[in-house]
Amino acid sequence: MELRNHSLKLLSIQGKTKSPLRMIDCDRKMDKMANVTVLGSGTMGHGIAQIAAMAGFKVLLRDVEQRFLDSAMDKIKWSLNKMVEKNKLTKESFEQTLSRLEPVVDMKEGLKGADLVIEAVPEDLSLKRIVYKEVSSYADPKTIFASNTSTLPISEMADLTDRPGSFIGLHFFNPPQLMKLVEVIRGHKTDQSTVESLMTFVEALGKTPVLVQKDVAGFIVNRIFIPLVHEAVFCKERDGVTYEEIDAALKSKLGFPMGIFELADYTGLDVVNKASHEMHLRDDKVINPHPLIEKLFQEKKLGQKTGEGFYSYSSNKYERKDLVQADAEAFDPTVMLAVASNNAGWLLSNEVCAQSDLEKALRLGMGLKKDLLATAAEVGMKSIVEKLNEMSEKYGKFYAPGPYLLKFAG
Ligand code: 3HC
Repeated sequence: MELRNHSLKLLSIQGKTKSPLRMIDCDRKMDKMANVTVLGSGTMGHGIAQIAAMAGFKVLLRDVEQRFLDSAMDKIKWSLNKMVEKNKLTKESFEQTLSRLEPVVDMKEGLKGADLVIEAVPEDLSLKRIVYKEVSSYADPKTIFASNTSTLPISEMADLTDRPGSFIGLHFFNPPQLMKLVEVIRGHKTDQSTVESLMTFVEALGKTPVLVQKDVAGFIVNRIFIPLVHEAVFCKERDGVTYEEIDAALKSKLGFPMGIFELADYTGLDVVNKASHEMHLRDDKVINPHPLIEKLFQEKKLGQKTGEGFYSYSSNKYERKDLVQADAEAFDPTVMLAVASNNAGWLLSNEVCAQSDLEKALRLGMGLKKDLLATAAEVGMKSIVEKLNEMSEKYGKFYAPGPYLLKFAG
């Protein structure tokens, strides 16, 4: 793989197959290996570093303290072991992946030879300002910068660097090792060659890129996911149902792989809370904030990572709730479907993405088993619009159906 004029050229990737159960082919040959630096070794950073190393890239994983890197390497080994256990990875590839990964604390050393820097540091613009200042001063002028931010404006971050044309959003989904989607987000000044390079890079990782045409709050998936967490809490209160009943209904009636509370706990309520604030700040129509999210965050009930969020957990490791199919009958998720469809409609009428990319993103980034707007059509677009009008009269204009749905009002 070669990086020239900001263009990552994929040279002879071998052995790609379509089967989801295939062995992950870590030894795809590339004439030249690109060097990737991942900044931040948290949940997303270590996962991104792992998949880049699995795909054959040389990866420097940088964090501010050795103990963070040690913990990240333990998690990477756990994940690789899981893959070996499930026959998705050979023992040999396990070793080769680890040999391509180098944890470093020193920033200058971490940026040595980097063709691409993927920043996955905490979602705090003042911290990112410091990081980008340092990165701009050490990185080679040809190095592309990508941010894995969930919700911060790409264009604003690009302007913190010395190379806004070579700056792009590269948004992975948790867990990056399993989720196939990567949103590629254009900033106002991103060069076309940078967009093309990163689309190619994502494919080289064995992932599916979806191009987000506009740098809007929440991009595609978070614009649907984050408001739904708040809406689910409102539904719980208004309908007098339990977390389990809502989650079971979303799984069995809307094709979610996890319930929304389960997913929020898994994502981390610190992440959900921060994304909520940022999205609301950028566009107050996108989200109807419920105070419980902020409260849980303040109480450090962050979900699986702290052992408690909406649910309780026995450890801070990957753990699922036993949701019972019978519980699904207690809750009608039409309001949640309506809110999600309204936000999806907003993305389409504002030309953020095409409908096919929207559905692809939701299937691969949130694991939806059914297309969102097809599910809405099964319920009936007219009923969805009526439900939103009814909610808007009772609870305010957040629920008012947008132009995309109003086309179906009849
Ligand atoms: N590496 C390797 N294996 C892993 C892993 C990892 N990082 N994490 C979990 N696994 C393993 C589990 O341990 C489990 O193995 P086991 O059966 O031996 O215990 C297996 O993978 C998963 O099997 P499950 O039966 O528990 O789960 P599913 O079949 O439901 O698949 C899932 C799991 C892929 C996570 C699926 O539930 C899903 O798609 N969930 C939705 C996730 C989602 O929406 N993510 C996006 C959140 S939004 C986001 O990240 C954006 C940010 O900006 C907020």
